[in-house]
Amino acid sequence: MKDIAPARHELDPIEIASRDEIAALQLERMQWSVRHAYENVPFYSESFDKAGVHPDDLKDLSDLAKFPFTVKQNLRDNYPFGMFAVPREQVVRVHGSSGTTGKPTVVGYTRNDIDNWATVVARSMRASGTRPGDVVHVSYGYGLFTGGLGAHYGAEKLGCTVVPVSGGMTARQVTLIEDFGASTIMVTPSYMLSILDEYRAQGLDPRNSPLQVGIFGAEPWTNAMRAEIEQAFDMHAVDIYGLSEVIGPGVANECVETKDGLHIWEDHFYPEVIDPVTGEVLPDGEKGELVFTSLTKEAFPIIRYRTRDLTRLMPGTARSMRRMEKITGRSDDMMIIRGVNIFPTQIEEQILKVPALAPHFQLELTREGRMDEMTVHVEALADHADEIARATAAADLAERIKQVIGITARIDVTTPEGVARSQGKAQRIIDNRPKG
Ligand code: DLL
Repeated sequence: MKDIAPARHELDPIEIASRDEIAALQLERMQWSVRHAYENVPFYSESFDKAGVHPDDLKDLSDLAKFPFTVKQNLRDNYPFGMFAVPREQVVRVHGSSGTTGKPTVVGYTRNDIDNWATVVARSMRASGTRPGDVVHVSYGYGLFTGGLGAHYGAEKLGCTVVPVSGGMTARQVTLIEDFGASTIMVTPSYMLSILDEYRAQGLDPRNSPLQVGIFGAEPWTNAMRAEIEQAFDMHAVDIYGLSEVIGPGVANECVETKDGLHIWEDHFYPEVIDPVTGEVLPDGEKGELVFTSLTKEAFPIIRYRTRDLTRLMPGTARSMRRMEKITGRSDDMMIIRGVNIFPTQIEEQILKVPALAPHFQLELTREGRMDEMTVHVEALADHADEIARATAAADLAERIKQVIGITARIDVTTPEGVARSQGKAQRIIDNRPKG
């Protein structure tokens, strides 16, 4: 893998400013943002009044803890445009979360918001090692999902040649990467694995591909998966994080030179980590639920939004801005099997340790009597697909899950292609427990 880290003079000055400079900018912007929300969005004026706080009370960054949280249900209650802080005519774009059931949650952007968003995505790409002039292949979905268009505008802003492929038609993805000479790909890590399979199916060696960097996000993935993809493609694999309610991709990104967690672009997004039960703000270093306050957004300011993502905050390394640890999971994805809390990423780590298994998997939950059971559906690699090899791999995985995670899981090792393939965000959990 090539050394592709940017030089310090190529960075935005704020990325390597002193903590004092960053805090001063944050306070000024936070005071603006909280007031902007209060004065223009009825939801915020009501919720602040009810909590007995006023924008004038925000004299220090720590005063933010006095303000109430915002949760997804608040956005649903104000569907579609009730959370906008500017007249609808000034909103040049809307996006929405996929919302597996019912209506999506809607977010909006002014022209300035789109420009700031492109800036943080361009910064994320530069941190990943992408350069102006590079060919960037975007396989995140285009549409209401923020992945495709978010990546697209960032790549254009950095000065790249963008190939807006979106997800799907995997054979064509490989053809375009090869023919156009893409050096960066932006895609979910699970769909990257499908692209990897397609390289092999076409008889191409992925290590000879033009790709040098993959900017992977929109779903949890482990360092074990990073090693798998980096080894397969001889490329850097870097983590990008974001959510539509906060802006989309580009809230935080790893630096290619350190790959030690994601630097949060703190000049635009103020992070807190809270105890998910008490709501109390935790000191940096402690693990809890990530909460964001937007500092510059005009159309859709968001104050203390509870992401449900679990992580911890750590000091800056390659940049002055704080890092968040790679996300182990969302509180929504936590399964409790016989009293043990488990996230799909823990299973992913164990699967990647069994040489005969492919990294495609789904977890099925069922209930027998009063007990929840988990079945891991995972594929055998093509050259380990006979019955004996599959049974051996199943026993190996069951033993690792028992030893490391502490639960007994059923293991179903299928033949290749036996597990549903992701074309975007992978669906890791299939919940077949009786409802209610
Ligand atoms: O997934 C935005 C995005 C697009 C991020 C492309 C990165 C790349 P939503 O659809 O609103 O937005 O989903 C946001 O996805 O709260 C996390 O639970 C999860 N997520 C996003 N990035 C990561 C990541 C986009 N790098 C939700 N690691 C978030 C783990 C992630 N989970």
